[in-house]
Amino acid sequence: MTNPQLCRWYLFPSVQALQTEAVSMIARAAEQAITDSGAFRLVLAGGNTPRALYERLRALKTDWAAWHIYFGDERCLPAVDSGRNSTMARDAWLDHVPVPQKQVYAIPSEMGAKAAAAAYSATLRQVGEFDLVLLGLGEDGHTASLFPGNDWGREAGSPVALPVFDAPKAPAERVSLSAWRLSQAKQVLFLVTGESKRDAVMNWRAGANIPARAITPLHGVDVLAESVLLKG
Ligand code: 6PG
Repeated sequence: MTNPQLCRWYLFPSVQALQTEAVSMIARAAEQAITDSGAFRLVLAGGNTPRALYERLRALKTDWAAWHIYFGDERCLPAVDSGRNSTMARDAWLDHVPVPQKQVYAIPSEMGAKAAAAAYSATLRQVGEFDLVLLGLGEDGHTASLFPGNDWGREAGSPVALPVFDAPKAPAERVSLSAWRLSQAKQVLFLVTGESKRDAVMNWRAGANIPARAITPLHGVDVLAESVLLKG
């Protein structure tokens, strides 16, 4: 049995305003984690929504040497393919700041979903609770690469990383952290923009059992969304 999701919605009149708040929340989380433990363990979202946010993070004044970057999911494509979530994050942000390369933990999805999921599970074995997890929302309510109709790995003790072979969003083969592992986090922040997400937002708020609802960290999740998506 998993905890019910505690979900806090924050609404913004524009994408820019939403990104400004997201930058502030990430900066606060980093400062707190680095003060408390000397490290900031951040999980990145993929897709297009976070690109502009990542570009804005280049200007952050922080101790980049303390940042440890993980990925919530990855598409099974060649290591430097432009379609990879890790390539987007590097191009938009990570190649422009001095985060030590050994502290950017890409999912080795070029190995294929099964082998990469096993390898990433091993990488995360020594990692405890994430400080902050960033997630997107798909039009069908998916998050990371947890899609409707699949096993989301919700139960405690689920595999850390799951192979995905039938994703309805190309490419079909992916690797995703499980819902359980994504929930082992002090803070989870969803970023939701774009008219195409309207139905997923309404379904989520109506209580539908979508993958995004399977993310149930102890302190709940924060959803930053464009306010226009909640207007009928
Ligand atoms: C991916 C992402 C996926 C994404 C949502 C939203 O690999 O595509 O991990 O979960 O976050 O599909 O995508 P957009 O931000 O492009 O709308």
